[in-house]
Amino acid sequence: MGWSILIYSWEQQISKVICAFINTSCSFSGMWFMLNISLNVNDEDYQVEVAPYHTLRDVLRDKLGFTDVKSGCSEGECGACTVLVDGRPVTSCLMLAVQARGKKISTARGLATDSNLHPLQEKFIEHGAIQCGYCTPGMLLVAKSLLDKNPDPSEEEIRVAISGNICRCTGYQQIVEAIMAAAAGMKR
Ligand code: FES
Ligand code: FES
Repeated sequence: MGWSILIYSWEQQISKVICAFINTSCSFSGMWFMLNISLNVNDEDYQVEVAPYHTLRDVLRDKLGFTDVKSGCSEGECGACTVLVDGRPVTSCLMLAVQARGKKISTARGLATDSNLHPLQEKFIEHGAIQCGYCTPGMLLVAKSLLDKNPDPSEEEIRVAISGNICRCTGYQQIVEAIMAAAAGMKR
């Protein structure tokens, strides 16, 4: 009993030091300390309480309700959980939520405006690039990041860009065609 109180108190002291080091407020919950952080998602700020081990994917899905961020392999292999962090595709199952503080996070939900789908979304629909839809949010975000950097990509450049995102349904050809069509439309 005496030892457990000592360890608990020791963990609290370490927690305080870590919280001061990363300059955020914390509270202690069970065996873990929780950090109060702000995340900017699709241009809106959210205050959220996270443990140091929480991944960005789990916080976006389970705490903030962004279920457009899909959960697949949890090992960085399938790309289903892809989000953009400061415009770059990131597998959010491999990023800690605390690492995303102060950065701009984009999910597929942020692509459309109130009245219009993003051109990529329109072309994915037109070209039948969606079947089960599980890979689609990640594919759309990878494609957006590519077109932001390179508005006129070759087919090979598109295939390289989406190579980290697994699609079990479409055979990829329709996805590539949709991205090429969106690029052509956005150039006009
Ligand atoms: S769930 Fe993140 S890469 Fe598969
Ligand atoms: S549409 Fe089903 S995994 Fe791509």
